[in-house]
Amino acid sequence: MRELLTLKNIVKTFPGVLALDDMNFDLREGEIHAICGENGAGKSTLMKIVTGVYKPDSGEIVVAGEPVSFDDPNEAFAKGIAIIYQETSLFEEMTILENIFLGHERMKKAGPLTFIDYGKMRQEALEIFKIMDVELDLDERAKNLGMAQKQMVEIAKALSHHSKILILDEPTASLTQREVEALFGIVRSLKEQGVAIAYISHRLEEIFELCDRVTVIRDGKYISTKDVATTNKDELVADMVGRSMDNYYPKAEVQIGGELIRVEHLNQEGILQDVNFHINKGEIVGFSGLAGAGRTELALAICGFTKIDSGDIYMEGKKVRIHNYRDALNAGFVYVSEDRGKYGLVIEMSVKQNITMPQLANMRSGIFLDNKKELALAGRYIKEFGIKCPEEDFLTENLSGGNQQKVSVSKAIAMAPKLLILDEPTRGVDVGSKAEIHGIVSQLAEQGTTIFMISSEMPELIGMCDRIYIMKNGTVAGEVGRAEATQEKILKVALHVD
Ligand SMILES: Nc1ncnc2c1ncn2[C@@H]1O[C@H](COP(=O)(O)OP(=O)(O)OP(=O)(O)O)[C@@H](O)[C@H]1O
Ligand SMILES: [Mg+2]
Repeated sequence: MRELLTLKNIVKTFPGVLALDDMNFDLREGEIHAICGENGAGKSTLMKIVTGVYKPDSGEIVVAGEPVSFDDPNEAFAKGIAIIYQETSLFEEMTILENIFLGHERMKKAGPLTFIDYGKMRQEALEIFKIMDVELDLDERAKNLGMAQKQMVEIAKALSHHSKILILDEPTASLTQREVEALFGIVRSLKEQGVAIAYISHRLEEIFELCDRVTVIRDGKYISTKDVATTNKDELVADMVGRSMDNYYPKAEVQIGGELIRVEHLNQEGILQDVNFHINKGEIVGFSGLAGAGRTELALAICGFTKIDSGDIYMEGKKVRIHNYRDALNAGFVYVSEDRGKYGLVIEMSVKQNITMPQLANMRSGIFLDNKKELALAGRYIKEFGIKCPEEDFLTENLSGGNQQKVSVSKAIAMAPKLLILDEPTRGVDVGSKAEIHGIVSQLAEQGTTIFMISSEMPELIGMCDRIYIMKNGTVAGEVGRAEATQEKILKVALHVD
């Protein structure tokens, strides 16, 4: 198969960071090539170099045999290279059609004048949707679309450029199982048509399901390229983390205490129906269910982000009233959102500021902030979580995606909550760091913290939780204990139709 993209000896530095160090990669026509590596290994940076977002310090980019150098993303687009980021880049107020052809509208001439040819664009867009086998209203505004639909539009946009090289950077992190299947269908059909696809993901099962080859990158350096058919998870993980791993879910046996929180008959019109549950001290309780089952909505409601219509919350047997997040914090709750940009981090601030922000009261000497105290607290978490940054004052937005997630979790833990509510705590986090976060959560539970954990990864819930509630249609539909928890049991309740 023809090589469509070759990267040779790529070096890229940022102030204080050697992000890519003599990295090599090649991509063939009609293959799906996974790129794997720990958080901060340099995967996204490498792809940003391919798409003209960054210029390498040195090294060579060859597209279909021709050496190229891109000054901006449009030049890469013109060479047939498209990327789909985890966060979509659509213009919310524009329609699907406008978004697809933005910057390369089809034109028609009428005498001396040129017009945008909406008819032609519409026809082309429908043809693309047909290839993709999706049905979307071209006149719908982007802001009314779900995450998965937005991604479909991004893919359509890539196809409208007749891209021969498509890069997907963690495309499935916020998709439901069904949406993932639809995406895989499209990716496979593009491969059939000869498109070369680079696929970044921390979900190793996806790599074995979808990809042909896998390249591993560690600390910015090229480690290996293997055929997926002849390697396995253990080998891949060892290449990624530089050692072999056996314990992904280091859950300690904990003496579980008395009841910490009890929620009774909680209702929120159209969203939550008569939700009842309790969690004991030191217990890790999982919330499973399909997307839309009401798990995040439940977390937001008990934390006072949204208003409940009726229902009671008891802490250690005493009724508490929670009207806003401040009340929830006072009751000892801390929420770590699945959407770290929305409720978690201020990415324009430093790692130190983010971690210490909720505790400024403890960070003072007299009336002044004590930088030494702040540095000590931030430094402790940076070390404990292995957050990859050159210094405590590093801007959070310059961290890799997975490292931002680690800051979000550390910030919450630093607040020493009684009830820690984790919503998809390991989304976008690499295998090694996942195990570290699991270890830290388990330790917290040992020290008496109570954990409410939402996750779409069933092995994570089964591996970490003492008990799992299964939600469906906005209510708790079932419960399984650690000893009898299996994927089948959970799915049976989650999917049960009455
Ligand atoms: N604009 C920037 N300024 C400074 N450092 C940066 C910038 N962009 C990336 N980095 C650093 O470069 C390194 C590689 O980051 P990159 O985002 O490529 O990692 P990644 O492999 O995609 O990780 P993840 O799996 O967490 O997404 C990290 O140490 C990151 O902090
Ligand atoms: Mg990345």
